[in-house]
Amino acid sequence: AARATPMAPLEPHNHLEPVYAAIDDRLTTVRSKLNRPLCLAEKVLYGHLDDPEQVPVRGETFLKLRPERVALQDATAQMAVIQFMASARPQVAVPSTIHCDHLIAAEVGAVADLVKAKDQNKEVFDFLASAAAKYGLGFWKPGSGIIHQIVLENYAFPGLLMIGTDSHTPNAGGLGACAVGVGGADAVDVMVGLPWEVKAPNVIGVKLTGRLQEWASPKDVILKVAGILTVKGGTGAIVEYFGDGVDSLSCTGMGTICNMGAEIGATTSMFPYNDRMGDYLKSTGREGVASLADSFSEHLRADENAVYDQLIEINLSELEPHVNGPFTPDLAHPLSKFKEEVVKNGWPTELSAGLIGSCTNSSYEDMSRAASIVDQALSHGLKTKSIFNITPGSEQVRATIARDGILNTFTEAGGTVLANACGPCIGQWNRSDVPKGTPNSIITSFNRNFSQRNDGNPKTHAFVASPEIVTAMSIAGSLEFNPTVDTLKGPDGVEFKLHPPSGDELPSKGFDPGEDTFQPPVEDGSGVDVSIAEDSQRLALLEPFTAWDGKDYENLPILIKARGKCTTDHISMAGPWLKYRGHLDNISNNMLIGAVNDHNGEINSVRHVVTGDYAGVPDTARAYKAEGLQWVVIGDENYGEGSSREHAALEPRHLGGVAVIVKSFARIHETNLKKQGMLPLTFADTADYDKISPEDRISLVDLANLTPGKPVTMKVTKQDGVVVEVTLNHTFNDEQLEWFKAGSALNKIKKDLGA
Ligand code: F3S
Repeated sequence: AARATPMAPLEPHNHLEPVYAAIDDRLTTVRSKLNRPLCLAEKVLYGHLDDPEQVPVRGETFLKLRPERVALQDATAQMAVIQFMASARPQVAVPSTIHCDHLIAAEVGAVADLVKAKDQNKEVFDFLASAAAKYGLGFWKPGSGIIHQIVLENYAFPGLLMIGTDSHTPNAGGLGACAVGVGGADAVDVMVGLPWEVKAPNVIGVKLTGRLQEWASPKDVILKVAGILTVKGGTGAIVEYFGDGVDSLSCTGMGTICNMGAEIGATTSMFPYNDRMGDYLKSTGREGVASLADSFSEHLRADENAVYDQLIEINLSELEPHVNGPFTPDLAHPLSKFKEEVVKNGWPTELSAGLIGSCTNSSYEDMSRAASIVDQALSHGLKTKSIFNITPGSEQVRATIARDGILNTFTEAGGTVLANACGPCIGQWNRSDVPKGTPNSIITSFNRNFSQRNDGNPKTHAFVASPEIVTAMSIAGSLEFNPTVDTLKGPDGVEFKLHPPSGDELPSKGFDPGEDTFQPPVEDGSGVDVSIAEDSQRLALLEPFTAWDGKDYENLPILIKARGKCTTDHISMAGPWLKYRGHLDNISNNMLIGAVNDHNGEINSVRHVVTGDYAGVPDTARAYKAEGLQWVVIGDENYGEGSSREHAALEPRHLGGVAVIVKSFARIHETNLKKQGMLPLTFADTADYDKISPEDRISLVDLANLTPGKPVTMKVTKQDGVVVEVTLNHTFNDEQLEWFKAGSALNKIKKDLGA
């Protein structure tokens, strides 16, 4: 029995022992080369190296890693699954799950909202369920809960390396996992059996000492860290917590801290394995994982004297509750200074709504502590003055807090329980109490508070705090209320001060699993039919892109010469386009509509080189495609920065683009273009950007001899017939050149599989 511990009870056939043995093996090799103490992040990452002989250098080397798990949420899963299908692999190569959480809008309450969402998104949910059954993924139905909470409850374990197609995947760091948010293309790589590539991150150490006091909670740790590091401070780094303060935090509290590490741009955040994680594992049915982790713990914490690229120290004993915002999560205010800031900045003091829960803060502990505040108010006959919404992170949490009377406490005080889903956190909040455009303040225990994120109203000032502070302020109905000093008065006429919150870290009666909402992976799904309606506007299978014909590209028009910043949002906008994420042709109608045309300084207005007519970028691309004309894009610095959204590379390829020629690329977008069979090229001399006019024709020559490191010659034919030669660089390696030749990385995979 000692050699057969399931990694997850829901997947009894995947065992943890071989995972730990492999980490141990690889680390022996890595240590013999590095000869220095390792951080926790390094142990978990390097313990998953595809080739442990590689010598990693933080911030420099690209690592090829073998994650054990992939998690997909419903909005991003669509294109990931569609691409996976195009690879023609019969089953996913590593355990993977799909979670239906983003497409469920909050309006009146859990039950009615869920019925409506299931109806509105039926075709997408049915597609994902059938694809999961066919290709061996686990499927969590709408209503099951939010991806990160389900992962923590069922799949995460200390030492796990996982990727997920959602930026808050790092939540699993609360259980000692290295969990990274990625784009769909990365997830597809791992699901088809390829390694996952990432630049060896730097490591920021956060040393915690002391113990949280009174109103302070784990959320305040990350609110404080966000204030120190700002929204950019964690870029390219893993944030690793250590120190004797760590043991005073609950496992789910550590999850909250890791979750919100996404707000400082960190690759992920991690905590070392400890008893609090062990307790959580045991109470969620994973005693075996806990005892194995106990015996493996030297690999699950940093070595003594491990060196960090940056070090921050926080004394938990002195940490005050924080309120961050509005409009950005790094605008950190200690509670004692907050009222002053509210007055000084003229933020609306009346609180229109308080929202607790979400993937960030919906643990049993969070809910029971929030309920302890509500109870005190109720004992004086006082209800919440603001609208008070509760989003349980999972069906298990919902069922358990329902059983233990916590939900009842919330509803008695006027709270509304929303579906176990993202809802208001991702803007799926059909709010009717405040008309759009009306200035108002809300406070949430969520993680992001960018303008319009929650209710689509740019005048809503959203603040982020712990569930306890959100609850207290919702009772008072005011942003100026500070529960540590101010008093309340209920209908009983008694003036009282709230005691600091208290609650159980884990349910004493154990968790109640609630309604069964899981569709387990099947071993042979070959008989399952994955159907997409012919006339579907939201889903479409991917036609394989055509292979390169071996010829040079001659005399191509420039679709657009983009000027200045051109992020993935400029290339493939989000917002209303989200609903077409599973339909490449429909979403392509947003291609480059945010990019500035260098020719006329306008967006979404380019000139057709043959007809001379001005039209939108996607329309012009479609016209070229219909005429059999391939085209190129010219771009500026750091082209494609932003998200790892693969649609930004799929769309130009779909509409007939063959090359993107820029001063410099954001690396992930560059790789995404290569994966889709395009040529990402950079000017050897960036000044050549200025030599290109929109009406020039572009030839890329001698492509048959394209080899790693060898520049590409571009011939630019000016309108008067003069030909200018420009040297371009590329970063293709041999393997990536095969993608180009095959037409895409997926075509190459398919070829290799003999499909
Ligand atoms: Fe969903 Fe918001 Fe979390 S969108 S995954 S609840 S950050």
